[in-house]
Amino acid sequence: MLASTAITIHQGFRAVLDSARGLTVACQISDGAEATRRLLFTSSANWGRFVIEDRSSEKGLPVRRSVRLKADNTHEYAMLIKELQSLQHHHGYLPREALYELAERLKMPFFEVYGVASFYPHFRLAAPTGTEIKVCADLSCHLAGARSMTAALREACEHAELGGTVSIGETSCLGRCDAPVAYALNEQIYRGGSPAAIATLVQRLQAGQLAPRQSLPQAPDNLQIDPYRAAQPFAALRQLVERRHFSEVIATLKASGLRGMGGAGFPAGTKWEVVRNVPGDTKYVVCNADESEPGTFKDRMLLHTVPELVLEGMILGALTVGARRGYVYIRHEYAQEREVLERALQKMQQDGLVGERILGSELDVTIEIFESPGGYICGEETALLEALEGKRAEPRNKPPFPGTYGLFGKPTLINNVETFAFVPAILLRGAEWFKGQGQNHAAGLKFLALSGHVQRPGVYEVPLGIPASELIFDHGGGLPPGRTLKAFSPGGASSGFLPASMVDIPLEFQALAQVGSMLGSGAVVAVADRVCMLDLALNVVKFFRNESCGKCVPCRTGSEKLVQTLGRIAREGGSTHDLDTIHELAETMQLTSICGLGQAAPLPITSVVRHFRDEIERHVYQRECPAGVCF
Ligand SMILES: Cc1cc2nc3c(=O)[nH]c(=O)nc-3n(C[C@H](O)[C@H](O)[C@H](O)COP(=O)(O)O)c2cc1C
Ligand code: SF4
Ligand code: FES
Repeated sequence: MLASTAITIHQGFRAVLDSARGLTVACQISDGAEATRRLLFTSSANWGRFVIEDRSSEKGLPVRRSVRLKADNTHEYAMLIKELQSLQHHHGYLPREALYELAERLKMPFFEVYGVASFYPHFRLAAPTGTEIKVCADLSCHLAGARSMTAALREACEHAELGGTVSIGETSCLGRCDAPVAYALNEQIYRGGSPAAIATLVQRLQAGQLAPRQSLPQAPDNLQIDPYRAAQPFAALRQLVERRHFSEVIATLKASGLRGMGGAGFPAGTKWEVVRNVPGDTKYVVCNADESEPGTFKDRMLLHTVPELVLEGMILGALTVGARRGYVYIRHEYAQEREVLERALQKMQQDGLVGERILGSELDVTIEIFESPGGYICGEETALLEALEGKRAEPRNKPPFPGTYGLFGKPTLINNVETFAFVPAILLRGAEWFKGQGQNHAAGLKFLALSGHVQRPGVYEVPLGIPASELIFDHGGGLPPGRTLKAFSPGGASSGFLPASMVDIPLEFQALAQVGSMLGSGAVVAVADRVCMLDLALNVVKFFRNESCGKCVPCRTGSEKLVQTLGRIAREGGSTHDLDTIHELAETMQLTSICGLGQAAPLPITSVVRHFRDEIERHVYQRECPAGVCF
């Protein structure tokens, strides 16, 4: 008889894989019963499926069952990405032989190891051939002339006789959208710089000099989010450890109106309550510091300015929901921010604020920093969890949501950097204080990253709900001299574009949703006159196409088809048929894609068709680009 069940092997999982046959292992059947079972054979190289001999049948006779084994040494499994990172650090790439050895050592099938290594953009499967420059081609850098800068850089390298020793290519947003054009030089990230200066830098590196590091941007002081400017730090944590008023914490967060700041805007207090109420001894807390959407860099500023608040928010979250282990998932391009965070974490460990026996109590919360091997999709919460588990970062179908079925299948509280950073101030100053900070019926404060055609790009702490015009013209100093505002993206690449006539719209969740846009990741990108909106939409759709994980067809083929259609219109014009195709593709992708990437990917072009229809129709029907960019 073959029945399907799930068991968890407690010990010796890796040893079992060596010679599965005949071993008796302690295990737990899915109903929770403890037992021992003899493993008969594995079904294939796939280590997930085994056949066991089950002697627990009524007559005591062995019964064969097909089972799905789940290792409970999952933290070891999750080591795969760290192992790959250290191999790459050692060799400069991932040699095939080293991958075979790794598979052998971890007792994993080679295809699993290769499947993970080949998924992430940060892992290289071939040896680098000289100096590598990757120029950011995305929204804010595109507006700053990334295309012409790349061409000029090629010329500068030729001129400096660097020709065959340098490879120049494109990359996705590097999180330095405030100082375009950003580029990565042998993995070191730089902001700005002329082509000639970059060529000189390459010459110096090739002569053996160390790659210089740019300093972190100036940290703003006087942030309202920081409740400790005149008070004892970590007061919110001290109070919680002393009073254990967990339900009150949740009630305060709910009353404050704090919403998730990573994009979806889910009410934070409700999420904390869900995770707290799910039964279970093992829970996790995860801080999403992946921040990879073009135009978005607010979390980078928070990570290096108020790392303690982010960590305190996480610990408060962990204690409230009953988690003892937490991870900060940070993008690898934020190496300097990671170092700042690591220092803050170490100091907090020394001061007994995190780790075992927090502030002398019996409460434990361990926090680890996990460096992402890359890709925008890793920021999607379930893809992120897959990456933390050592797998390819492909989003899961939802439901179940991470709150009930998260990391390693356990209830997991996952919040954005900014969401966690707000918590200490809200708990200390109260829900009413936070609520009262908003404008235009919105509750609270918001960090907005402003980039594109503005005089003072940067991160601004503002009341949630301020008009976009206030951010762009008052905080950002308006557009460069001689330019006027043509459009703006109110919430990052996935929020599409709105016309300048709507610039007084409040930057808050509801108002933007009403016009078919969103606050998204809090990235406002100003677009000046003389920019072609078709070219801009194509640029953003390309980003989504490049970053699609490929798991589901509508997104994988739909985004490619959109790029092809828009590219063709920009080269040779089109027909009504093309506009219908765009509409149908958009509808299908929005309705059927598994995750938010595929659902948002068409928005840049559908918003442009809606708000700049005349400009698009001139491209399609008259082969005419009013901005003089296409054809
Ligand atoms: C493609 C994609 C990328 C995302 N990237 C991020 C990210 O970098 N940081 C983030 O906090 N949320 C990101 N999100 C949203 C997360 O899935 C999730 O909603 C968020 O981390 C929850 O935290 P919050 O409730 O505090 O916003 C992304 C979503 C999608 C669909
Ligand atoms: S929508 Fe795109 S990114 Fe999301 S799961 Fe599907 S293919 Fe992957
Ligand atoms: S660094 Fe280029 S768009 Fe973000």
